[in-house]
Amino acid sequence: MKIVIKDNYQELSEKAALLIKEAILNNPKLVLGLATGSTPLGTYKRLIEMYQEGEISFAEVTIFNLDEYFGLAPDHPQSYNYFMKHNLLSKIDINYDNFYIPDGLTDDPDKSSLEYEEKIKKFNGIDLQILGIGSDGHIGFNEPGTSFSSRTHLANLASSTIKDNSRFFENEREVPSQAMTMGIATILEAKEILLLASGINKSEICAKLIDASKDIMLPASALKEHDNVTILLDKEAASQIKT
Ligand code: GLP
Repeated sequence: MKIVIKDNYQELSEKAALLIKEAILNNPKLVLGLATGSTPLGTYKRLIEMYQEGEISFAEVTIFNLDEYFGLAPDHPQSYNYFMKHNLLSKIDINYDNFYIPDGLTDDPDKSSLEYEEKIKKFNGIDLQILGIGSDGHIGFNEPGTSFSSRTHLANLASSTIKDNSRFFENEREVPSQAMTMGIATILEAKEILLLASGINKSEICAKLIDASKDIMLPASALKEHDNVTILLDKEAASQIKT
């Protein structure tokens, strides 16, 4: 794992956007895996600016999102589908037919998960996957204890995740208890992975991640078996890492 530490959130966002920009310039038909949460918001803001300034186009890019709350309709303001449209897709030249996200309203999660895997395969896999990290070490919605060989599936959210994510909802009870998520094996098949972590709240888990060997109770540690992973942190998130 390559570790890059930036002074602050703005610089982290700039660096992440630059890496994505380079990937698109190298391959205009890039298959990009994207994440939600507060962390990539600054990156998306910079990507929108880069698009507006004519530096990049998403016209031929395909996007696969990591996860979606189970039971939320795509137009629900807290759904990840809505998040992506509101914070990135509606402001760039992406072709909506090239945007994929797990179906939070499916009545057959197993079938829908298989279909999601097949779609990714059809595009020859994800070229660059952007990840955040949960305070419990989850990636996507793969909570501690999830098998490293898991594929896209319906997952139960840890109570700490429900608590963390309740800041976006009226109260904790409104947070769905399940989500459709790419599995850990799905994520590991991406050719390149960029994990972003910002802020003091992530410092403990980031220090653990860097120290840990592969441990099923720390889902992000699965990334240690991948040979092209960059962990991009700001100083606060890196503050507990032992040198
Ligand atoms: C959610 C998402 C994850 C994301 C995590 C961290 O649980 N499912 O993909 O990485 O939140 O979010 P944030 O960036 O807001 O800290």
